[in-house]
Amino acid sequence: MKVLMVCLGNICRSPLAHGILEKMVADRGLRWEVDSAGTSGWHNGAVADVRSVEVARANGIDITNQRSRQLLADDLDRFDLVIAMDTSNYNNILNLAHTDEHKAKVKLMLNFLYPGENRVVPDPYYEGGFDRVYQMIYDACEQLILAYAPRISN
Ligand code: 4NP
Repeated sequence: MKVLMVCLGNICRSPLAHGILEKMVADRGLRWEVDSAGTSGWHNGAVADVRSVEVARANGIDITNQRSRQLLADDLDRFDLVIAMDTSNYNNILNLAHTDEHKAKVKLMLNFLYPGENRVVPDPYYEGGFDRVYQMIYDACEQLILAYAPRISN
């Protein structure tokens, strides 16, 4: 299973989702590949925002080795699931998806937790709220694993 977490900058939300899911699958002995990217490319090569690094560290997860990169059309070939943090990310990813197979890979993060409700992980870059964002993503990742691990384990 190959999972790509996507937000706007790939410095706040998707690095958390990347680190959280990577640790959860490792703890469960699942050999999934996890990565993250941003739709914008504005922060290409940058380390994660210090506020994401800190909330991750407080929860036992090290995301300091991550570097921001822009989402590529090729990612829709490479990954099985491409997960958007908010509706804007979701629509931007879908714009790169030109086949039904690619479109079917694109999911909204919180729909794993609240199916069909299309809730979004709020952008904490200006507003803050990193603890709450961490918890939302954590809870959604637990459901993602429950949804896919029984069927696909590598
Ligand atoms: P992210 O947060 O999409 O969760 O990484 C943001 C990071 C940077 C900006 C916006 C959101 N920005 O405007 O530079």
